[in-house]
Amino acid sequence: MRIDGSVTLVTGGASGLGRATAAELILRGGRVAILDVAGPRGEETAAELGPDASFIAADVSDAQALETAVGAAVERYGRLDALVSAAALAPRGRILNRAGRPYPLVDFRRTLEVNLVGAWNVARLCALQMIENEPNDDGERGAIVNVASIAGIEGAASQTAYVAAKAGLIGLTLPMARDLAHWGIRVNAIAPGTMATPIIADAPPDYMEELQRSTLFPPRFGHPDEFAALTLHLLENALVNAEVVRLDAGTRMAAWS
Ligand SMILES: NC(=O)c1ccc[n+]([C@@H]2O[C@H](COP(=O)([O-])OP(=O)(O)OC[C@H]3O[C@@H](n4cnc5c(N)ncnc54)[C@H](O)[C@@H]3O)[C@@H](O)[C@H]2O)c1
Repeated sequence: MRIDGSVTLVTGGASGLGRATAAELILRGGRVAILDVAGPRGEETAAELGPDASFIAADVSDAQALETAVGAAVERYGRLDALVSAAALAPRGRILNRAGRPYPLVDFRRTLEVNLVGAWNVARLCALQMIENEPNDDGERGAIVNVASIAGIEGAASQTAYVAAKAGLIGLTLPMARDLAHWGIRVNAIAPGTMATPIIADAPPDYMEELQRSTLFPPRFGHPDEFAALTLHLLENALVNAEVVRLDAGTRMAAWS
């Protein structure tokens, strides 16, 4: 896919990795619809990114609002070439904590609704728009990048809801790519390690130290621009399909007990 002149929907684009990706897409000549629940922060982000960015407020777990939002993006730009699905919650808590209190079922369900069902649904709705595109010389009509996590591979402790959702996204990569290949749409996922964004701001210091220790090289957390660079590559390189790419400096998580 050619970034210059393209239109991308970025869910969770008002912050962190989604925001950095939106900025890079615009720098390279793309236009971006940022879809996020964050009201004023979404408007501010779009204003900061300039006239090639717009903000659409929607919760990815609200099927009706999501359909309306995708429709609004297509109405505004006249087409949709790519989706970067980064919206997520990252709650923490053991399934049974040290005081013997169980993790709330409602919170488990909510995380799956946003991180997994929301990502599946926005991919479905965006693919429906991408098939309207004229195929390029490769027959390509669109590209999707889902943002998973190494937590979904390594089974991070105290995060059963988050891990289940991210493992689900990883599992969806191949069958979604298989289903959408007929239409010339590629599907890849990125599994980041710990990245310096607001989503980790509230994590306890001892947990952050442990994460830092589990990073091989370089011994630091990732920067959002490193994520954006990989995302743009996955959108551009037609030969990468049905792949889950780790972006984690060789991290292997410890078996916390
Ligand atoms: N930062 C990390 O260490 C890390 C590691 C692995 C994976 N990830 C994944 O990267 C993606 C981006 O996270 P980030 O680090 O940029 O976090 P972030 O908190 O900076 O950004 C997440 C964005 O998603 C939005 N969002 C949350 N719920 C939403 C909903 N229901 N509908 C629409 N938007 C919603 C938030 O408002 C926020 O703007 C997430 O999928 C996250 O799980 C992050």
